[in-house]
Amino acid sequence: MDERTFHTRRLSFGAVADSYDRVRPSYPEAAVRWILGDAPARVLDLGAGTGLLTRTLLRLGHEVIAVEPDARMRAVCAARTPEATVLEGSAEAIPLPDGSVGGVVAGQSYHWFAGAAGHAEIARVLVPGGVFGPLWNLRDESVGWVARLSALVSREDGSSHQGSLAADAFGAAFGPVTGAVFAHARRHTTGSLVELALSRSYVLTAAPARRAEIEAGVRTLAAELPQPFDLPYVTRAYRARLVR
Ligand SMILES: C[S@@+](CC[C@H](N)C(=O)[O-])C[C@H]1O[C@@H](n2cnc3c(N)ncnc32)[C@H](O)[C@@H]1O
Repeated sequence: MDERTFHTRRLSFGAVADSYDRVRPSYPEAAVRWILGDAPARVLDLGAGTGLLTRTLLRLGHEVIAVEPDARMRAVCAARTPEATVLEGSAEAIPLPDGSVGGVVAGQSYHWFAGAAGHAEIARVLVPGGVFGPLWNLRDESVGWVARLSALVSREDGSSHQGSLAADAFGAAFGPVTGAVFAHARRHTTGSLVELALSRSYVLTAAPARRAEIEAGVRTLAAELPQPFDLPYVTRAYRARLVR
């Protein structure tokens, strides 16, 4: 993906913030526990979007600060997540003091951060020994119809994380990165599956004719499924501790 396309897609989600919050999956509590442990902490949700991960963190008893650069995503997050502190900012400019949070998590957003600048900011706001954990919900493409769905909506889309992160992926300030995988599912109908497809950055920034083509393809695919149906996901979670 060239740099211009990357920047257009990075902040494309606000256009569908309301629908995004309705149809995108949340995150398994087990994955969040694996990253942060069970003790309640002060946690930064970085690239919080509309608050899908923020609300899982709150359910687990954490005090949450949600940081999000897109005003429209932030507005949905603030309206639907009144228990969290919602702030404007980004991975490269986190509006928090040094050493102020025990954990930083990033749901479906780490791939939009600018590498070293983001790592330095995350390290700055963490307490010594604090944990950074990005995680992604990936459609479970071992299921036949899900693989067909992915072929429809993901073409040319390098915008989500598919592979494994290297042990030194977060730079020298962090210890080794380890990973774990968790299964879950989100219930859908044809209508919500179409909305889901239309909430992807590649589709959001595609030409109207291409969007119409994708929508028609998803409708045809979903018509073959019993209604409602479960869309299976695997959540890929990573964690590493601040070592200096
Ligand atoms: C796919 S959404 C994920 C939102 C939410 N975390 C979730 O799990 O639903 C990606 C989010 O990252 C935000 N984002 C993009 N670039 C960012 C950056 N450099 N720093 C922090 N957030 C960023 C976008 O505005 C968007 O809200």
